[in-house]
Amino acid sequence: MLASYVLDSGSPDSLRLGQLEAPAPGPGQVLVRVQAASLDRVDTYIRRGTHGMAVTGPAILGRDVAGTVVRTGPGVTGFTPGDAVVGLTTGTHAELAVVPATHCFPRPAALDAVHAAAVPTAGRTAYDAVVNLTGVRPGDRVLVVAAAGAVGTFAVQYAHHLGARVVGTSAPAKADAVRALGALDVVDHYRPDVVESLRSALPGGEADVIVESVGGTLWSDVLKVLAPGGRLVTCGVTADSHAHLHLGRLMVKGWTLRGIGRPGPEAVARQLREALTLSAVAAAPTVAATYPLEQAAAAHDRLEASDFVGRIVLTTG
Ligand SMILES: NC(=O)c1ccc[n+]([C@@H]2O[C@H](COP(=O)([O-])OP(=O)(O)OC[C@H]3O[C@@H](n4cnc5c(N)ncnc54)[C@H](OP(=O)(O)O)[C@@H]3O)[C@@H](O)[C@H]2O)c1
Repeated sequence: MLASYVLDSGSPDSLRLGQLEAPAPGPGQVLVRVQAASLDRVDTYIRRGTHGMAVTGPAILGRDVAGTVVRTGPGVTGFTPGDAVVGLTTGTHAELAVVPATHCFPRPAALDAVHAAAVPTAGRTAYDAVVNLTGVRPGDRVLVVAAAGAVGTFAVQYAHHLGARVVGTSAPAKADAVRALGALDVVDHYRPDVVESLRSALPGGEADVIVESVGGTLWSDVLKVLAPGGRLVTCGVTADSHAHLHLGRLMVKGWTLRGIGRPGPEAVARQLREALTLSAVAAAPTVAATYPLEQAAAAHDRLEASDFVGRIVLTTG
């Protein structure tokens, strides 16, 4: 089968395209013919060997998948060859992928394969952040940092759907797209006066909830607008794993700071199901562009250019 893979992390040149042995479904697994698989920022981390993601190959990249069932492994029931499914696994940038049956779901009728493939990693993460970890309630002032990213586009839509008053941050060129997702206002997170801009944009100058995924100085800056008793969840460290935290302020303000964590397989399965359901009714997965699998390298270049809103999706066939 054709696959996009790396032999060793460490250099952008390590991305390969070629024929690899097709996987066979083991116990509890479903073999899926891939129609669409999103490209995640973590795929670029693996390819580069950054963020503690080094691998030795051949390692096929990709985690999200939408496609059709080919066959199932021992002990799997409830799937028929040809079923349209969406799931979360590893090694989806290929013509075939094995998916744990627990993480493989019927594709919602409202989503085609390309848009369904945009949901699992980013939608589940945003769902966990907005629903489970910060418990967004109607009327909450929710600040979504990097609102034009894959996680951000889902977080804005989920929070808006829950009745929150959402403000996003993004590069200026992406602000209109973020507003269209439901944000009341959008602040350029590259401005030197980002804190003052956020105070102007947020109702009452504060956020009850912050969904953050950039890290570094932006993490420290946005914390300055977190209301007393506010909740912040860190979902990623795109720019920098370190940030400055004034412990006295944390103590006095009574903030709750959460990390997205590594939920176990049962929790991931539950969150995936719920994120898919919510996405089908309340969030249009934002797909900026599709690339054929054969052009995976161009898709990686596009992801690293960060000149788009939402997801890049690879397609096969
Ligand atoms: N822990 C988990 O389970 C989990 C799951 C999913 C994602 N994540 C992490 O969460 C982060 C966001 O994921 P994602 O899929 O939404 O990523 P993404 O689609 O690549 O979006 C990231 C956004 O961050 C903004 N940004 C701000 N500063 C940046 C910088 N210095 N470099 C690059 N981009 C910058 C960019 O938008 P602008 O152009 O508007 O600045 C970009 O669109 C990533 O670090 C990812 O690895 C973690």
